[in-house]
Amino acid sequence: MTDQYAVIGNPIEHSKSPQIHGAFARQTGQDIAYSRLLGDLEEFEDDVDQFIAGGGRGLNVTVPFKERAFRYAHTLSERARDAAAVNTLLIDGDRVHGDNTDGVGLLRDLTCNHQFALRGARVLLLGAGGAVRGVLRPLLDAEPQTLVIANRTAQKALALAAATAALGPVTGCGLDELAGRQFDLIVNGTAAGLSAKVPALPDDCLAEGGWTYDMLYASEPTAFVEWGRARRAARALDGLGMLVEQAAESFRLWRGVMPDTAPVIAALRSA
Ligand code: ATR
Repeated sequence: MTDQYAVIGNPIEHSKSPQIHGAFARQTGQDIAYSRLLGDLEEFEDDVDQFIAGGGRGLNVTVPFKERAFRYAHTLSERARDAAAVNTLLIDGDRVHGDNTDGVGLLRDLTCNHQFALRGARVLLLGAGGAVRGVLRPLLDAEPQTLVIANRTAQKALALAAATAALGPVTGCGLDELAGRQFDLIVNGTAAGLSAKVPALPDDCLAEGGWTYDMLYASEPTAFVEWGRARRAARALDGLGMLVEQAAESFRLWRGVMPDTAPVIAALRSA
């Protein structure tokens, strides 16, 4: 029987995950079906229960349910624990394991697809919510010279930096405390782009030859991609590559085979 997978979120109609996993399945000859599930804001857990009762084998979890999926899972990977958020559920009978593939998705896109040299780089990470928590440890594992978490609400950035201090050279501050500082890579993990806004940054905080990366993806250049281009970023990347790479890691966890992401990224880019 065809194994059932889905992505659950709210809203969900624009999710590209079915297209991505469909392409992975064709490429690797895996017999799976992958659909979109509109999760109920009140009854997310019941929706997951039902999916499991219907024989579902795995779920991708997106906004706004990643923290609830974290609480739902019976067991958790270390990276899900680090992020306190789950974007991938693996279902084995009535046991549910939670993982988080967002961090590895960003790292693979930056370093494998685009050859950005994180080691020794000065990195600015914008935001202090779930999206940022998910990528902190893998970014620090890549040994940047410094990693500054800057958030509109400074307190949250300070708390996150304090909680991660043992992992590497990380500090936290408010967006309004960046004057005079320069970075080789600025990663936007805020929700500002959802309303076409850009976090309020000093104009000169991108070093010459620096890159920008928006974790968000949209069919048009995002507001932060435009921000990077206007400041002559060597590369102003959006989150399409990260989206496909995190999906590939979920697919590998579910099916035990790693798909080739390059043709899938290229097809989505040209669509
Ligand atoms: P997610 O789980 O997607 O990261 P979240 O936990 O709600 O979502 O976090 C949203 C992040 O985007 C926060 O860091 C938020 O800043 P505050 O902590 O100050 O709320 C940030 N954010 C949202 N809108 C923003 C804006 N217009 N400018 C700057 N930061 C913004």
